[in-house]
Amino acid sequence: MNYNKKTVRDIDVKGKKVLLRCDFNVPMAKDGSGAITDDKRIRAALPTIQYLLEQGAAVIACSHMGKPAATYESYVKKQTEKGKDPASLTREKWEQSRKELSLAPVAARLSQLLGKEVMMAADVVGPDARAKAAALQPGQILLLENTRFEPGETKNDPALAQALASLAQVYVSDAFGAVHRAHASTAGVAAFLPAVSGFLIEKELDIIGGALANPKRPLVAILGGSKVSSKIGVINNLLEIADTIIIGGGMMFTFSAAQGGKTGASLLEAGWVDYAREMMDKAASKGVKLLLPVDAVCGDKFDASAKTMVVKTGQVPDGWMGMDIGPETVKLYCDAVKNAGTVIWNGPMGVFEFPAFAKGTQAVAEALSKTDAVTIIGGGDSAAAVQQLGYAEQMTHISTGGGACLEFMEGKELPGIACLLDK
Ligand code: 3PG
Repeated sequence: MNYNKKTVRDIDVKGKKVLLRCDFNVPMAKDGSGAITDDKRIRAALPTIQYLLEQGAAVIACSHMGKPAATYESYVKKQTEKGKDPASLTREKWEQSRKELSLAPVAARLSQLLGKEVMMAADVVGPDARAKAAALQPGQILLLENTRFEPGETKNDPALAQALASLAQVYVSDAFGAVHRAHASTAGVAAFLPAVSGFLIEKELDIIGGALANPKRPLVAILGGSKVSSKIGVINNLLEIADTIIIGGGMMFTFSAAQGGKTGASLLEAGWVDYAREMMDKAASKGVKLLLPVDAVCGDKFDASAKTMVVKTGQVPDGWMGMDIGPETVKLYCDAVKNAGTVIWNGPMGVFEFPAFAKGTQAVAEALSKTDAVTIIGGGDSAAAVQQLGYAEQMTHISTGGGACLEFMEGKELPGIACLLDK
């Protein structure tokens, strides 16, 4: 795939209306107060927004938030599947569930960060959005309501894409976190307007794309998280690129089973054991170092207060579950990171939310903070871990993409990038 895409610098936006797709899908407090608990994605969009406003564009920003039910019927279907009594599923409840996913809190936060008013539309392409977009002046910014309130968004309906396009003269995408989605606002709209990237997508492509295409070697990939099944594509693709692959997190036990080890009550994907074996063989035949844990910290239950014990990886006793890499493994992994040229990290080494099982993730984060290597943190859990443990500032780059970053590392075509104009 060609990642050499035109950016906002390559297009004249002066006096034009620009539809800017951002990923403002930010975590919100669970109490319904509308408080944003992490505004990193909003901050990450600021350089492009500020540039467009300074260039004299009128900015019509849009984004999705969460996974709302776009119609009452789909709400009833989803909730009934979750076991809710259909009789209790009123239209008011559906409307309330959508209200909780309004972008209004994002408009307020963005306005604080920009130091200027951010107007909010009550709909996406409805009468309010159309009237406010039509009246918008250069240097002003309007935020449309959650694009997923429209049933056509996730279906990539051309009618919705066209309606969005009709609000503006140029399309800019800076929604790196959503480029793996072929939706109306992330991809479809580019068929109707000149489409370029913003600075965030440019940066993510430069750094992650650069590390995959032409890394400073040795390239060390650290892969964690609970499931092998969610990392298959990444492991497979990185076996073609990396010099060393390090495995941690719950998925280490599927590899341990592939080596004939005893995994006790640890998370094990029995259906993926053969695949893990295949990956071990592939690594050997390609001369890629595949480092697997030699020991693990186990708990007697999945709980912060669990009793703990360190065991050799293939010797987890019955009733115990491995929840972190052990101290010997930490040493092994930190050594591998020390002499790396580039490190890509995706997925925590253990259940870092429980302090007793956070040491592996903590030690790897600390090792990354000390190495001279280029350090790239894939979004999602690993980004959260690095932030929570206080090492964010020391990393070269923390991606704003979760699923998008994973699919990028899998070498997949990303529809939200493929649709932009080539340089
Ligand atoms: C994310 O949080 O990874 C992006 O905003 C994409 O969200 P989605 O998985 O709901 O499409």
